[in-house]
Amino acid sequence: MLVLGIESSCDDTSAAVLENGAKVLSNVIFNQNTTHSKYGGVVPELAGRCHVESIDRVITEALKQSKTTLRQIDLISVTVGPGLVSSLLVGINTAKGLAYALQKPLIGINHLEGHLLAIFLHEEVKFPFVALTVSGGHTDLYRVDGFGIYKILGRTRDDAAGESFDKVAKMLKLGYPGGPIIEKKALLGNPLAFHFPRAFLEKDSLDFSFSGLKTSVRNVILKRDCGESPVLSDSDISAGFQDAVIDVLTSKAILACKKEKINRIVVTGGVAANNALRNSISNTANSHGFKTFFPKMEFCTDNAAMIACAGYYKSLKSTPFNKDALFLDASATLSL
Ligand code: KG4
Ligand code: ZN
Repeated sequence: MLVLGIESSCDDTSAAVLENGAKVLSNVIFNQNTTHSKYGGVVPELAGRCHVESIDRVITEALKQSKTTLRQIDLISVTVGPGLVSSLLVGINTAKGLAYALQKPLIGINHLEGHLLAIFLHEEVKFPFVALTVSGGHTDLYRVDGFGIYKILGRTRDDAAGESFDKVAKMLKLGYPGGPIIEKKALLGNPLAFHFPRAFLEKDSLDFSFSGLKTSVRNVILKRDCGESPVLSDSDISAGFQDAVIDVLTSKAILACKKEKINRIVVTGGVAANNALRNSISNTANSHGFKTFFPKMEFCTDNAAMIACAGYYKSLKSTPFNKDALFLDASATLSL
């Protein structure tokens, strides 16, 4: 079965061709970093326009790399939310047009389900497992009992972890996206040079909060720049900030496993590309006898292969209809 995946929920235009749910024949990603970097974050109007300009050639390239034609595709799978509506609509309308013209079934996918199932692109994880989804828009803990069977255990009450990486990079004038830049800077810094606050919230809570940490980083930078606090380098601030985020993410992922009596953790989403986070969670999990699973780097950040994968599994449960080609719509706040 060949699935064409289409993803355009934020600032990456992506198309992928997937065979039988796990063989990635192509996964083409066009990122808009150069467009948004001068603003230190994604500008929704510009993102929508960039998707319009690039989606046709991204799909054409994905088909070319996979050596398939549109006629050979059995199912089209597209992200319908959550995300930026003007961005989502480009992928959805393109998918609807293709499905209608080719009379192919179309399936709408929740972007978060794509992240949750990205691991299945190269590894069959046994159910149940705990999933930590850490991206630019979300920081959630789920209990996953099967394909389509998800229970939310905790979520961020304010900023997402990735968003806080982006904001700290912006405050330090380091560029966008902040995550990989801060990770690189942190390697040169001393994480103990300044102890940033960790918001663990109420006892046993699996929710997150990163806004206080962000404010603390802002205050430290302001005080440093006017000579009021010890001289901290950008690398020290990056290392201290990253340590605080990782500390909380690791503790809560382990706590979720203990509370649910589950010994498998999947860590996914853009921030899961962070090596320090991967090491922290796998080392701590190992010491508790828990197993960890991380999607390959290219499947952590937004990509269409994970959307094709989620579409494949969803189609096994309920036959997708071509009528979706007429009725699918974008939802900025779609929940799982
Ligand atoms: O999953 P994703 O591509 O898009 C959303 O669904 O939001 O995640 C993007 C986020 C950005 O905030 C980016 O700064 C962060 O993931 N990110 C990282 C790293 N690579 C990407 N954060 C920390 N370390 C990284 N290496
Ligand atoms: Zn994402």
